[in-house]
Amino acid sequence: MKPINRRHFLNLAAAAAAVAAIPACGQAAPSGNRQNGGANPASRPSGSSSSGSAPQSGRPLKIGIIGAGWLGGTVGRIWVKAGHEVMFSARDLDKVRRDVQGLGSRAKVGTVKEAAAFGDVLLFAVPFGALQQLGKDLAGEINGKIVLDASNGNETEPLVRQLGNGNVGVAISKLLAGSHYARAFSCVDATQIEASYERGGRNPLAVPIASDHRDALDMAARLVRDAHCAPVSVGGLANSAKFQRGTPAFRNHTGEAEMRRILGV
Ligand SMILES: NC(=O)c1ccc[n+]([C@@H]2O[C@H](COP(=O)([O-])OP(=O)(O)OC[C@H]3O[C@@H](n4cnc5c(N)ncnc54)[C@H](OP(=O)(O)O)[C@@H]3O)[C@@H](O)[C@H]2O)c1
Repeated sequence: MKPINRRHFLNLAAAAAAVAAIPACGQAAPSGNRQNGGANPASRPSGSSSSGSAPQSGRPLKIGIIGAGWLGGTVGRIWVKAGHEVMFSARDLDKVRRDVQGLGSRAKVGTVKEAAAFGDVLLFAVPFGALQQLGKDLAGEINGKIVLDASNGNETEPLVRQLGNGNVGVAISKLLAGSHYARAFSCVDATQIEASYERGGRNPLAVPIASDHRDALDMAARLVRDAHCAPVSVGGLANSAKFQRGTPAFRNHTGEAEMRRILGV
């Protein structure tokens, strides 16, 4: 009998594991309508997943995190575990270094400018008030690049009224002009994303996304899936108002079917 080729066997096993980990549509809601559980912002995912794993979907990406705090740090660490190369940034780099310790060589730390240049894709997760200056400082780096944005602001904020007529996503897209901008992870809590990732594809958390750019919408969906969450697209950025602060969808931690019902998509 022909001996089993070990490498071939391992490749098949890895492929089977990756397929098994992809969340199925319409699975049951993960956690009802839980609000922010109040966990320590600095806490890291407990890391049951292998740090040597390949991304679930396609080739590994280079991702820059602008604002590696609670949301950006949590999602960035998950993407490292999912197989991507991630550069984490903020103003206080000592804190960022402490937070990514032990993640291995795929996790890098740099200035905001370095991270913006490093990533083929960027995730912004900063206070609303930082975005205007960041948009100016990083204009060259973000031009033509896919930017996922989880940052929130209030619809009553003067800039949000002026630039977006109350639509936070539309307003921020203008502050980050030139980028292929998408809303992603803005209405779900970091602790819930982490919990969904740790469930490994069972009962994935629904994550609403929106963009006027097809490539950015597809990338948002891919990277949401890599975090073992379920993307729910509302289409164009104008529709992102459906899941901004103050709506029934905001911080509504539920599954895909229920989120589709809430958003009417
Ligand atoms: N926490 C969540 O679960 C969650 C969920 C969805 C959306 N969001 C949104 O994500 C954004 C961040 O929230 P968060 O809870 O992650 O806050 P956070 O823990 O305070 O993190 C904010 C990060 O942004 C950095 N930052 C602040 N000003 C900056 C600037 N001018 N340039 C570069 N980096 C800057 C901070 O580090 P330095 O101060 O050292 O620069 C920090 O790393 C907010 O808009 C929030 O509404 C949060």
